[in-house]
Amino acid sequence: MKKILIINRKVEIEDSIAELKRVAEETGEIQVSTGCFSDINLLIDGENTCIKNEKTGEDLADFDKILCITTAPFERRHIFNAYGCYCRKKGVIMADDTFANASGKLYEMWRCWEHDVVVPKTAYGTKEFLGKCLVENFGGIGVFKSIRGTKGQDNYLVHSPEEISKIVDDNPDIEFILQEFIPNDGDYRIVTLGFEPYMAIYRSSGGKDHRNNTSLGGSAKIIPLEEVDPEILEMSRVAAKATNKRFAGVDVITHRDTGKNYILEVNHTPQVVTGAFIEEKYKVLRDYFLVDGQ
Ligand SMILES: Nc1ncnc2c1ncn2[C@@H]1O[C@H](COP(=O)(O)OP(=O)(O)O)[C@@H](O)[C@H]1O
Ligand SMILES: [Mg+2]
Repeated sequence: MKKILIINRKVEIEDSIAELKRVAEETGEIQVSTGCFSDINLLIDGENTCIKNEKTGEDLADFDKILCITTAPFERRHIFNAYGCYCRKKGVIMADDTFANASGKLYEMWRCWEHDVVVPKTAYGTKEFLGKCLVENFGGIGVFKSIRGTKGQDNYLVHSPEEISKIVDDNPDIEFILQEFIPNDGDYRIVTLGFEPYMAIYRSSGGKDHRNNTSLGGSAKIIPLEEVDPEILEMSRVAAKATNKRFAGVDVITHRDTGKNYILEVNHTPQVVTGAFIEEKYKVLRDYFLVDGQ
């Protein structure tokens, strides 16, 4: 029996899809399920990583082939990209697998996951699903942040499903991801050019905020690359490559207690001609211009 999932843009099943299902199932060898992307929840969490239809309980990994019957709306491409990452890893064929170049934090997290780069546990989906993940998977504390946020904006430290629910209701136009909170003393911005690290800046809020962004008053210092944990540099290379960004600012955070490193995001316009250390940044770009083949 071949199991097929048709992902639709609308919740109601259109007549044409019902007809397609009937014709396919006539063979007795095909079983067709249908679902709308707004019912599908996504979770990155080690062995528990899954993409499931909330209504049917079906996991994308349970199918042989997945067909997205309508064009993914442009602003939702990061979701279809995540399905693609998951399907490639699980050996499921996604018939239209062209969503490789999306943008935003959901896109970046799933591309990193596909390439085995460590990211914080990350959830995307309905409010109910996010609340459940916070309590059951993330230890009751999380960072709830806009998929398209920059400079620490629309980024909240949350402690309860009710807080998540209120933020969603107060910001109907913003799409959020929920992550486990990684306790830290600061984070690294690794500037990669041609997928190679060129510069490392360590930023810290000094405990004043859960966000270390310099735009919010965090302190920053340049760290010579040879003093940066080689694992952080390697993760940054892979993350830049996984997201197809030749010119990137990779944010990496280190867990204060376990020492484990996580990619937080892969910025596609690192602040290399603005912000702190501008002279050093010009020199970094000059070095990059001189290198062949990157
Ligand atoms: N999962 C997380 N755990 C701990 N801190 C986080 C987490 N996600 C974000 N932060 C904090 O919030 C800051 C901003 O988040 P980030 O994902 O880099 O978005 P942006 O810089 O685009 O606003 C990070 O530099 C970090 O200090
Ligand atoms: Mg950042």
